[in-house]
Amino acid sequence: MKLYQAPLEGITGYIYRNALFKVFGGPDKYFMPFISPYEKRIITEKEIKQLCPENNRDTKAIPQILTTDSKGFTELTDRLNSEYGYEEFNINFGCPSGTVVSKGRGAGTLADTDLLERFLDEIMSRSRYKISVKTRIGLHNKNEFQAILAIYNKYSLEELIVHPRIGDEKYKGLPHMDVYREACNNSKNLLVYNGDIDTKEAYESFVTENYPNTIAVMIGRGMLKDPAVFREIKGGNGYSAEELKEFLTIIREAYTSDFSGETPVLQKMKEIWSYMGPALIEKGEIDPRLVKNIIKSKKISEYKIYEKEIIREIV
Ligand SMILES: Cc1cc2nc3c(=O)[nH]c(=O)nc-3n(C[C@H](O)[C@H](O)[C@H](O)COP(=O)(O)O)c2cc1C
Repeated sequence: MKLYQAPLEGITGYIYRNALFKVFGGPDKYFMPFISPYEKRIITEKEIKQLCPENNRDTKAIPQILTTDSKGFTELTDRLNSEYGYEEFNINFGCPSGTVVSKGRGAGTLADTDLLERFLDEIMSRSRYKISVKTRIGLHNKNEFQAILAIYNKYSLEELIVHPRIGDEKYKGLPHMDVYREACNNSKNLLVYNGDIDTKEAYESFVTENYPNTIAVMIGRGMLKDPAVFREIKGGNGYSAEELKEFLTIIREAYTSDFSGETPVLQKMKEIWSYMGPALIEKGEIDPRLVKNIIKSKKISEYKIYEKEIIREIV
């Protein structure tokens, strides 16, 4: 079973991926947060930074595209191929955010199976690249999945990554494992499971269930809570305080040279702590007040003091 890093918009850019790889060793495959083609400009400066080979040497990641515009998809993938050498792309049919869904994109595309099929027909007939899909199991109802899967079955995908929730559920409730089992039994494409695997134990209990056709498990929030999770699953140690310090320092310094001003750096670091902090509290490793302090800090100097205090408490 392979391990994949889930795309997490705003967090798992090249800075996070490189720090993860350097300190903890990475997963088998990384997926980039989504980008979308637009008529006026195909790629922004910010996106170039994320995509250029210099920033992706150790952590070659698959670009993810969010669109239902087949022409835009083709132009964008051709450009990413000719300028940066990418030969594999992932399509996002999972994003549940209101602004994305209302435009019929992400999980929104799943509610319109004609659009889904037309888009895939158009891009799959033209594309020279390996194409994978990351999907939810429907927008409003899990029964939508049968028709959606029948469409995916028409194409030869590199892999089909399934997050077995419907769009309306966002991240609430439990993944619908009955629907994932249905995918395993009926998919013509190889599958990757994604959803709520956030510890080695959760991974092991998933594997014991013997889901056929599944070649990999993709982990997102589990990695944000515990950046050593891939290493632990592979039989290695959990993270040490020293490693955590190194990981956070690399990220903070890279953001500091990437952004102008403290505010965006602080915001990014707080986002990481919004996952890691509660996980450490749950394990009983740190005083909840320390996380509150770090989330409330207004300056990097203040943030650093609280980060140091937290790391001192970790054994
Ligand atoms: C903050 C955040 C950003 C996300 N950004 C993306 C994204 O850009 N593309 C995507 O396909 N999924 C995105 N997702 C969904 C995750 O990739 C993943 O499918 C989801 O978190 C479930 O997996 P997990 O339980 O392992 O976290 C995002 C999720 C979160 C919480």
